[in-house]
Amino acid sequence: MYDKHLSKYAVIGDPIMQSMSPDIHNACFEQMGIDAEYEAVHVRKDDLEQKVKALIEAGCKGFNVTIPHKLDIINLLDEIDPFAEAIGAVNTVIVEGSKLKGYNTDGPGFYQSLLEIHPLNLKESNILVIGAGGAARAIVKAFLLNGIEQVTITNRTVEKAVELLEGDNGQALPLEEAAARLDRYDIAINTTPIGMVQNINETPISLNNLESHTVLVDIIYNPLMTKFLKAGLEKGCTVQNGVPMFIHQAALSFELWTGRKPDLSLMKRTVEQKLGGK
Ligand code: ATR
Repeated sequence: MYDKHLSKYAVIGDPIMQSMSPDIHNACFEQMGIDAEYEAVHVRKDDLEQKVKALIEAGCKGFNVTIPHKLDIINLLDEIDPFAEAIGAVNTVIVEGSKLKGYNTDGPGFYQSLLEIHPLNLKESNILVIGAGGAARAIVKAFLLNGIEQVTITNRTVEKAVELLEGDNGQALPLEEAAARLDRYDIAINTTPIGMVQNINETPISLNNLESHTVLVDIIYNPLMTKFLKAGLEKGCTVQNGVPMFIHQAALSFELWTGRKPDLSLMKRTVEQKLGGK
């Protein structure tokens, strides 16, 4: 039975059972004494409207949106935050009565996670983004929003990298060219799925020209150490996996819903414990 005193939150997606969002949000609700519950809800593409309606009727106050609904959810919103609109994707929804307002915390979450390891001179840094899909788009838009226009995007399909730049001042390169000049970058960010279980022994770009001054960031957090990051460690590079981005996007969603800042270290511990520790 639904308890009307309990605030209800959710993440919707397909697949969804592997999601760690319930673990981290529920850990924070408990620690902060907030009477709320966050659950994973399996929602297929053709079921989106009906399932969202059901969530609203059940008194859900907010939900995260993940693959494959980040674009389609926009059609169901009453309002969209300008940054989410610029990205063209929504991962966080606030429910107010029957009204839905959409946000994107993936891009800002990534940016905050990068500040943890590279806090000073991002504007003067040579930044390489590998991949040109939805995740890359959120990241590049977050850079732009923070005044960082000079990014290089490299992708298997170089046309998609060109599209992502949209006439901004960055540069699009084929993978081989970016690999050939890898030593020129201060930061290289993998936004592709290469390194996850399906292709765990691959790297998204050849690392022959990697040097120790380049910071490597992977948005993958399962596994915690991709081949890309392991190779970076071997070369003496600073590396960061996808856990900080994941928890920062979650923390920003949490704040949008509750107006309170959650404990990032509790979120981090929860994820790392679940993924087998580090
Ligand atoms: P997301 O929305 O999660 O970013 P996506 O839109 O499917 O996912 O984008 C995945 C990115 O990884 C794309 O840049 C894709 O390259 P293409 O644009 O050429 O498809 C890249 N990618 C995925 N699998 C790849 C592979 N095996 N080799 C190289 N690039 C790959």
